[in-house]
Amino acid sequence: MPRIILVSGKGGTGKTTVASATGLATAKQGYRTLVISFDIAHSLSDAFDLERGLFDQNQGLPLRVTENLDLQEVDVQEDVERHWGDVYRYLATIFTSTGLSSVAAEELAIIPGMEDVVTLLYLNQYMVENTYDVLIVDCAPTGESLRFVSMPTTLEWYMRKIFGIERNVMRAARPIAKMLTDVPLPDESYFAAIQRLFKRIEGIENILLDPETTTIRLVTNPEKMVVRETQRAYMYFGLYGMNTDQIIINRVFPEQAGVFSRLAARQTAYTAEIAEYFQPVPVTQLPLFEDEIIGMARLQEVGHALYGDEDPSQCYISSPSYTFKKDGQDYLLEVVMPFVQKEEIDLTRQAEDLVIRVGNFKRHVPLPRSVVRLKTAGAKMDDGRLIVRFVNEVSR
Ligand SMILES: Nc1ncnc2c1ncn2[C@@H]1O[C@H](COP(=O)(O)OP(=O)(O)O)[C@@H](O)[C@H]1O
Ligand SMILES: [Mg+2]
Repeated sequence: MPRIILVSGKGGTGKTTVASATGLATAKQGYRTLVISFDIAHSLSDAFDLERGLFDQNQGLPLRVTENLDLQEVDVQEDVERHWGDVYRYLATIFTSTGLSSVAAEELAIIPGMEDVVTLLYLNQYMVENTYDVLIVDCAPTGESLRFVSMPTTLEWYMRKIFGIERNVMRAARPIAKMLTDVPLPDESYFAAIQRLFKRIEGIENILLDPETTTIRLVTNPEKMVVRETQRAYMYFGLYGMNTDQIIINRVFPEQAGVFSRLAARQTAYTAEIAEYFQPVPVTQLPLFEDEIIGMARLQEVGHALYGDEDPSQCYISSPSYTFKKDGQDYLLEVVMPFVQKEEIDLTRQAEDLVIRVGNFKRHVPLPRSVVRLKTAGAKMDDGRLIVRFVNEVSR
């Protein structure tokens, strides 16, 4: 089974650098690798120091850069036209009928989220056709990556609950609408296109949720605001049931930081905090490099700093360390904690986290917004898992 590694994190933390270096490292180990980017602010070609022209020539399709390594920067406009022409043309017609120029209409018809859908189409295709051994996704900044991973669920819901109704209503309304307005209603080709599209994404959800196929690597910097966002990202990915298997702290100052010694000390403190917070997810550090990280030689150095001689495609963690479930009005949190007795466990709430202490060992579970306002109501151990119940006192 191929591996999918999603590299996510706040903007500017080093996602593209880490994704590129990881891809180069797995390619060197003999894995057929693709690094694919769906961040609109593409920069894979910059990291690899390629002529932009190459990508333009290749129209958003994979491009071989060295043995075993392809790069792909998804070109939404090109791809939507390629795979989703009917839907796209319909939307563009709507915008044109509202009086927009056709160029503006074509731009607008690329609704937010389409680059996610296009990337999912490709991932699914590569998985089904077994084109690569390792697929590394250079994600857009955190918020958008979350939309990306929730997209299959959203589409599935839409197809199950809305699509049929919408199509029937449209069929019934078309003759009347024709008399009343010039704005064309979507026709059968529009619905057929959506159905075709959905068929090509079907199955990707299970692939993304399989913790030994798909893992998330979160890139962070040793700075307060960035760490916060990393914690939230970790929580949200966890909520989707996805497995974060590594945290990468990037731009760590050397110990001999000279005039920056105070900054270095602060970084050391954050680094320790991060390691503790993300238990049991392994935390790796990447030093701040003096030279710009551009081109394969530099990326190879980064890869070495990250993984040494390890296999970067391994799963550092085999399942998400916690999950949330809804039980009626209540929420249940399940945390994998083998070898622990209930009596040893101490639970406290700290800001938006649940802190689990077992002896000297401490573990933070960031709580989703819907759970933060609930009360912790009891915990039990069940087959190596700690189960914590959160109840809504108001509704009782
Ligand atoms: N450890 C590092 N040392 C020095 N420069 C770095 C390091 N990590 C990233 N950079 C540089 O910082 C910039 C932003 O990194 P990038 O990987 O593009 O971030 P992102 O994809 O998260 O926006 C790039 O110019 C990159 O070369
Ligand atoms: Mg980037």
